[in-house]
Amino acid sequence: MDSMAGFFSQAALEQIRAASDIVDVIGGYVPLKRAGANFVALCPFHKEKTPSFNVNPGKQIFHCFGCHKGGDVFTFVKEYENIGFADAVRRLAERAKIPLEFEMGAPDAQARHLKDQLLQIHEQIAQRWQTALANDAAGQIARDYLAKRGVSEEAIKLFRLGYAPDEWDDTVNWARSKGYEPALIEKAGLILRKEGSDHYYDRFRGRLMFPICDEQGRVIAFSGRVLSGDEKTAKYVNSPETPIFTKSKVFFGLDKSKRAVLDAGFALVCEGQLDLIACFMAGVQNVVAPQGTAFTPDHARILKRYVDEVVLCFDSDEAGQNAAVRSLDALLASGLAIRVAVVPAPHDPDSYVKEHGADAFRKLVSEAEGFFDYYLNRLCRAHDLTTDKGRMGVLRGMAEAVRKTGSAVLQDSYAQKTALRLGVAPDAVRAEFKKLPGPRTLPAEALHEPTPDGAVETVPPSTQECWLLKLLFLHEDLVRWAAMHLDPEWVQHPMVREIVNRRIAAQSHETWTTLAAFLDDFDSAEAQGIITAATAESRAIPDPDRQIADLVSRLRNQHLDRQLAALTHRCSLPETSEEERLDLLRQQQQLRQLKRQPLAPLPAGV
Ligand code: CTP
Ligand code: MN
Repeated sequence: MDSMAGFFSQAALEQIRAASDIVDVIGGYVPLKRAGANFVALCPFHKEKTPSFNVNPGKQIFHCFGCHKGGDVFTFVKEYENIGFADAVRRLAERAKIPLEFEMGAPDAQARHLKDQLLQIHEQIAQRWQTALANDAAGQIARDYLAKRGVSEEAIKLFRLGYAPDEWDDTVNWARSKGYEPALIEKAGLILRKEGSDHYYDRFRGRLMFPICDEQGRVIAFSGRVLSGDEKTAKYVNSPETPIFTKSKVFFGLDKSKRAVLDAGFALVCEGQLDLIACFMAGVQNVVAPQGTAFTPDHARILKRYVDEVVLCFDSDEAGQNAAVRSLDALLASGLAIRVAVVPAPHDPDSYVKEHGADAFRKLVSEAEGFFDYYLNRLCRAHDLTTDKGRMGVLRGMAEAVRKTGSAVLQDSYAQKTALRLGVAPDAVRAEFKKLPGPRTLPAEALHEPTPDGAVETVPPSTQECWLLKLLFLHEDLVRWAAMHLDPEWVQHPMVREIVNRRIAAQSHETWTTLAAFLDDFDSAEAQGIITAATAESRAIPDPDRQIADLVSRLRNQHLDRQLAALTHRCSLPETSEEERLDLLRQQQQLRQLKRQPLAPLPAGV
């Protein structure tokens, strides 16, 4: 199963859907007005003065002709409430009073109690360290450091920065005075036990303290930066994993940036705390930091709850740029569109803002290019494009990156872009992409079809492609004919091709139930919008049999024309030998002949 819908049984989903009439549900959020067989409203997803938001009770779908959002009742709640699919299902189940019996029971009371204690300790020590930074004589070194780095008073307050005194037993003594068992403070990760003794000592000594918060803003861990120029100690010391802190699941700053992240529609990802704070001070507040360079699938999933796009803004050094590339797996699997803002060497975001100012930084972010464009550029710079070896290097690098998406859609788009850059025919690149080993298996829970939005500029489907979808979704009896006569390869728009493929597969595997259920198998908002755009107005189509036959033969001929053009292009390349040219001409003749033939059933097995 490649969608979140796989988390619930099909029967449970259908039961909840049946109890959640789309007109009732959406009507509970926005006032709906009847318009013929449908209902209309001012779209809740974009600003408008005349209603282009449509609800189709017959098909149980909605679509906005203004902003192209669309889907079924689950999609609506998910989008409106900005929650995950699973939460949307839960909410509608609650509304319909349908119990979801397999949900976990209440967490163990004892574990809950420990977590509460740990949270309390973190809050108290955070306050203590804040006070030490603000008032203690010993905190002067940290105050000087912050002044030197240009961190404002306001930022110090907002991020609750602190100073951990340069002692071995400051936290130990504090815990004792508060009546906490040392073992509990050890569990909190604030002190360590000297091996083979019952002697404890402080983890954070003489450091600038950054509290790390959960999404509700509760302090759950710390990161401490060294203040002396001492090369022997690590630059940062971090809390270990504790019952309340799992490093791979927390972003520094998200509790403070989530509103801005939602408003901006994308999250800017920086490497470190001070980078994030610098962005914040520069007025770019939709920032998160995974703290260091490891971006995990959990991180990606968290962001996916807020936005569909991330802009990576890593350090300009080799380590930072490699981190951008390494983040790829997790990000792609989550379906987030990725752009990369390249901070010119030798800067990181923090030093760039300081040297060039907030406006220059905002410009850099707004001009960030799509990840694969960034990567294609990087490869083209690293290889000598005048040699076969160099071109193959680029081809191989792109193929390897793009196949990580497991998406035919993206592979195809970037085969075209790569072809353009290398000056070869797209079909030649597609063939090379196919020769490389197949897509690597991604973690099972991450097997969503990534949305190509942002990564590729999304081109809307052509009128003919929309019309094809309309026919296939409104006239079920045509699907069988299409399965026999339409090669989905003829559909140029990658997402439409994917939809057509799945529509035909659903028919031939007899998994087709309703349009609404079909929609839930797409995690991509683009796909849902394309389908609902074609089906929101379900007026009957005259003479559908003739229409689909015309349409399919037109799509076939357009496909053949594209192939002919690619062959012509290859003929014109200086490196094409006379012999190859003859062969290309022969191929062209065959294609022209094919074009003249009437549409026929496809050979079996296509
Ligand atoms: N980091 C860490 N442990 C280290 C080094 C780095 O946890 N020993 C994390 C920190 O969250 C840090 C981020 O990785 O913020 C990025 O590291 P780096 O670029 O080295 O630090 P900066 O954020 O640039 O810190 P500074 O500007 O203070 O040098
Ligand atoms: Mn830095």
